[in-house]
Formats: sequence, C-alpha cells, structure tokens
Amino acid sequence: MTLDTSKDVAAFRPAARIATVGVSKILQIGARAAAMKRSGLPVIILGAGEPDFDTPDNVKAAAKAAIDAGQTKYTALDGTPALKAAIVGKFRRENGLDYTIDEVTVATGAKQILFNAFMASIDPGDEVIIPTPYWTSYSDIVEICGGKAVLIPCDASAGFRLKAEQLEAAITPKTRWVLLNSPSNPSGAAYSADDYRPLLDVLLRHPHVWLMVDDMYEHIVYDDFAFVTPVALEPRLRERTLTINGVSKAYAMTGWRIGYAGGPKPLIKAMAVIQSQATSCPSSVSQAASVEALNGPQDILKERRDSFKARRDLVVAGLNAIEGLDCRTPEGAFYTFSGCAGVLGKTTPDGKVLETDADFTDYLLDKAHVAVVPGSAFGLSPYFRISYATAESELREALGRIAGACAALK
Ligand SMILES: Cc1ncc(COP(=O)(O)O)c(C=O)c1O
Repeated sequence: MTLDTSKDVAAFRPAARIATVGVSKILQIGARAAAMKRSGLPVIILGAGEPDFDTPDNVKAAAKAAIDAGQTKYTALDGTPALKAAIVGKFRRENGLDYTIDEVTVATGAKQILFNAFMASIDPGDEVIIPTPYWTSYSDIVEICGGKAVLIPCDASAGFRLKAEQLEAAITPKTRWVLLNSPSNPSGAAYSADDYRPLLDVLLRHPHVWLMVDDMYEHIVYDDFAFVTPVALEPRLRERTLTINGVSKAYAMTGWRIGYAGGPKPLIKAMAVIQSQATSCPSSVSQAASVEALNGPQDILKERRDSFKARRDLVVAGLNAIEGLDCRTPEGAFYTFSGCAGVLGKTTPDGKVLETDADFTDYLLDKAHVAVVPGSAFGLSPYFRISYATAESELREALGRIAGACAALK
C-alpha cells in the first residue's frame, strides 16, 4: 500500500514564540520596490540600512590572506584571540573602556549579539524598555525570547531621546533591561554626555535594571558631536551594562557578519552558551578581516563620515523645503526621520485621503517611485525614514520627486 501524502498532513503550525512577530515592514517595502524596479519602473530605493561604500581594500586583503593561510576552520566559540585582542584595544583606544579578553564576545553580526544576550537573560514576562522610534529587530528579538518590549514614545520635540522621567516611570520589578541606541536607527539622534547623565542617574537608583547600549553607528556622527558610551561616563554601571558595537556600518562590512560586545563576565559566558548551539563561532575569514578593520588605518572613517555629512545636509534641506514635511537634523547615522503630519488629511490626485504615514509612503512609492519606510515600522508616527547612503544624484532626483508628489496633494 502506498501512502497518500496529499491527505492527513498536518498544516504547518508556527511556534507561539513567533506568533506576534511578522516579516518586517522594511523588508516588505523593499521587496515591493524591488519587484516594481524589475518590472521596469524607475524606482529609487532609500530603504537600505547599509553604507553604499565598499569594504576597504586592506580589510579584503586580510581576508584573502587568512584564506591562503588556512584560517578556514571553526574558531574559538565567541571569537579568535586575535579579534578579541583587537576589540579590547578598540574599546580602550576609542572609548576609554578597560575590558579584558574574557569580557568581550564576538558573534555573527551585532544582531546575533542582541539575540545571544536576550536569549541568555530573559525569562517569560521579563520587560525590556525600548525608546521609540527604534530598530524593529529589538522588539522582535525580545518577543522571540519570551520577553515583553515596553515601548516609550520619544518624538521629535524630545530630540527622539528618552527622558529621565519617562525611564523612571517605566521601570517595574519586572524590568530586566533598558536598551539605548546612539546614534539611532532610524532617527539619527544621538545622546551626548549631558543627555545620558540623568538616565544613568535613574539607573543607579534601580540596581536590578541592566543597560544594553547599541553603539553601532558610533563613527558616523557630524558637526563635532562628541560620541560617548555610558560605561565610560558611569563606571558604576560597568557590571550591568552590555556595550554592543560592530564592523558592519563603520567599515562597510554588513555582509561579513561580525558584531561584538563588552560586558561583565557572567553575561558574556552565558551568551557563549547560546552561541555554541546556534552558530558554533563566527566566520573565521570574517574575523580575520575584522582584526584588520579594527587594527589597520582608520582614516577611511573620517573620509566616509564627511561624505555622509554632505548627503545628510542635502536631504535635510531638501525635505524641509517641502511644505508639510518637517525634518530634524540628525546628529549621526545615515538616516533622516522626517515628520509628515503636514501632509496627512490631504487628498492624492487619485482621490485617496492620506490618513497615516504608511499611506503617505505607499503614495510616494506608487506615484513618485521612491521607496522610504513609514515611522509606524519603527513604532512612532507620523514620520518616515530615508536612508541617504546612496549617490547624491539619486538623492536629488528622489527629493525632486517627493516634492512633486507633495505639491500634487490637495
Ligand atoms: C542600530 C543597529 N544595531 C545593530 C544592527 C545590526 O548590525 P549587524 O549587521 O552587525 O548585525 C543594525 C543594522 O541595521 C542597526 O541598525
């Protein structure tokens, strides 16, 4: 008798832990824009979260040399001694932090660092305070790990920054972590030492709360903004802070998948337990490349920052010249997060009333063929994010089209 496999097959049942986690809106928009482009439409995509530069040549050469030298096997679980030493050196040189080798960890991107940290520390119902707008992965990872993301709105009038009173009010006995990201994806807002101080004072009063800081865009700051990381400001938080960073954005190495962090030993060890059953270790070749990125010449950081700054200025000025849009000048990263309250309530030439920021960004994609991401995808409306890590000519064209689309609204 042959088995009839078309019948009695149980439908796929997703695990409860992903029930509330959908495919990110950013990916959905990207896929729709890419499909439109393939069909021949002249779509400009301003959605990508990665630099348009190439990985520096010295970094590529280090990777090739590592392959030729046979560095093609599993490495130590949470980072090669050479890369950990380079990270210790980076933290000391650039941040004034004194982590030891066993207080740093390396993973397959900063995203896996976040995943390892939450998997290793969150029990069902534990709360993680996340200011909005926020990088969507934060809340999704927290939810997958069984935690509860406590989202705190921080709008443009607050500089998209969390205030001490808001933090104080959000802390409960269940609060496990506060997650801060400076400069921020998506807002580009950054915390100065003065911005951080009152928040760190709140945390000193609540010893059960740990601090996770995502410094991924540390090197992309403008106008003499002085980047600072919390543990350097408040060493008393050192034993309950995880300082996350990576090579993806600074060195245009998104595809190499290397992120790292410094933190207290028990947490770093627990994160290694998670990693050991997920990926065993980060890629050997990418780790060799990252050693060169961190130890090699750093002039490229400034050159690229200057290039991003010119584009930031172009986009902020262009958006603010459009009636109905209102764009705060970001301190860093390569995103603008512009208000669009002034276009809501207006009617498109096709007779549709724009009610939400997502309506507006759909309209821009359909009619102006410009793909941007609505604030709702980052937990704060009505705004939209532009990633300006693209050629100036494309940015000028996109701004012209957005202006035209806004002018056509009634
Ligand atoms: C704020 C922030 N943190 C972390 C990451 C993840 O970086 P990685 O490529 O190292 O996983 C991103 C990527 O978009 C990001 O925007």
